Amino acid sequence: MKLFAFFFVISTVLSIAYSAQYSNCGSDSGTFTKISVSDCGEKEARCVLKRGTNATITIEFTSNNDVENEVMAVCHGKVGGMFVPFKLPNQNACVESGLECPLEKGKAYKYEASFPVLKIYPKLDVEVKYELKNSKKVDIICVLIPVKIV
Ligand SMILES: *[C@@H]1O[C@H](CO)[C@@H](O)[C@H](O)[C@H]1NC(C)=O
Repeated sequence: MKLFAFFFVISTVLSIAYSAQYSNCGSDSGTFTKISVSDCGEKEARCVLKRGTNATITIEFTSNNDVENEVMAVCHGKVGGMFVPFKLPNQNACVESGLECPLEKGKAYKYEASFPVLKIYPKLDVEVKYELKNSKKVDIICVLIPVKIV
């Protein structure tokens, strides 16, 4: 049983590492199993987001804490070496995002949100840091997504 658990963990880690460009930036009280952004292919080095469209992000994950009453979505873009806050249209991940709060430990969840890629944004490569935080501001999920705005 222990051996099985070990292989399960290893294969999960590998599948995350190999499912492209997304990297874990400290999902302290959760584990993500699948990330997808708009219609970006898993083999693309950067996810291309077109200005004037809405981007969508989907995060499939499990929570490691017994109960999470609040879940906040926080987004930053790394521009010129600094993480600049990006205001999401809906920061409350417990509302209209596919989650049923409170989250329970070990249960599988699918978070879904969309945000506009405005025409005023500069065309550039940006590392997007997307976090789902609990009420103690601890990251349930933190994922880095290399994006190219065109
Ligand atoms: C983006 O989403 C907003 C809010 O749902 C909607 O009003 C708008 O028409 C969408 N824009 C595009 C380009 O799909």
